[in-house]
Amino acid sequence: MISVCASPNIAFIKYWGKVFSNSDHTRNIGVNASLSMTLNNAKTFVDLEASTTGAHQIWIEGTIASATDNQKIIDHIARIEDHFKNSHPQGAGFLHIRSRNNFPHSAGIASSASAFCALTIAICAAVIGKEQTQTLLDTQPEVISMLARRGSGSAARSVCGGYMLWQGWHAIKIAVDWPLRDTIVILSKSSKTISSSEGHARALTSRHFAERLNHLPERTTALQRALKSRNLHELGALLEAEALEMHMIAETSVPPVHYLSPDSRKVIGAIQALPQRNFYFTVDAGPNLHIISESSVTQTLQTLLKDLQLEAEIWEDGLGTGPTLE
Ligand code: DP6
Repeated sequence: MISVCASPNIAFIKYWGKVFSNSDHTRNIGVNASLSMTLNNAKTFVDLEASTTGAHQIWIEGTIASATDNQKIIDHIARIEDHFKNSHPQGAGFLHIRSRNNFPHSAGIASSASAFCALTIAICAAVIGKEQTQTLLDTQPEVISMLARRGSGSAARSVCGGYMLWQGWHAIKIAVDWPLRDTIVILSKSSKTISSSEGHARALTSRHFAERLNHLPERTTALQRALKSRNLHELGALLEAEALEMHMIAETSVPPVHYLSPDSRKVIGAIQALPQRNFYFTVDAGPNLHIISESSVTQTLQTLLKDLQLEAEIWEDGLGTGPTLE
């Protein structure tokens, strides 16, 4: 039995728009470098058993995977077997895979990142063995990151824990030791109607996309500087500008994509109107807000939500240390 646990990550600089690819090797490569913080409490657990006969069987949250998810995971098994075909031509065998999350579905927590990170590690362990996979994770995590990226781009940034910078084929961990918190304000649990994969494709049609690419390297460097010097206010200004820009790109895509809800806009407005604060927001492809801070802001957020007469669930998270393999 192989058991892997991995956490999602929240992007401080967003992966939004992919390089065109007609090869599986260059699937899901971001047009720009992106940077994220790995979470700690939210987790995907993958249990895997291999057998020499039968067929692959995949369960997600206790039920047989949908045809689409099943195919995605079978393709992922095949690409990992292909990657190791010279040293381990026998492949993985027939896999029984069970995947589950401990965090609510469609809560604005990127489950594809933790799921594909955990699946990649578990499938690698089925192909090359647990010990060799652990050695890869410890000494060449870029190999695992590159394979995870081909399952889902953001999964490339979940393999090491801490803060990761992804550019091109794989992500690397950056040397930042700052235990920030991420308090997630879950305003809605409805699944998004436009997938992030579709959002990536449309991003390239925004008339503001070229301009975004022009100034992103500067923002990415500044954000790394803010992280390294633990400057929350500098970090926060960059975080918010980046999140709002990603949504502006989505909203000016052809056809447009609207991920923010009226409630998300209300909360953003109320946060921005505060005369003083020690927390900053970011948002992925959905309406739920990630509030980044150094100390707990749950109480403040609850008061703010009450004043706005909004109901929301709060998920408290923080900086995580990366996946585990048993
Ligand atoms: C808004 O990694 O979900 O969360 O590569 O198509 O699986 P695919 O996309 P995905 O995109 C994540 C987009 C984002 C920003 C980010 O995580 O950087």
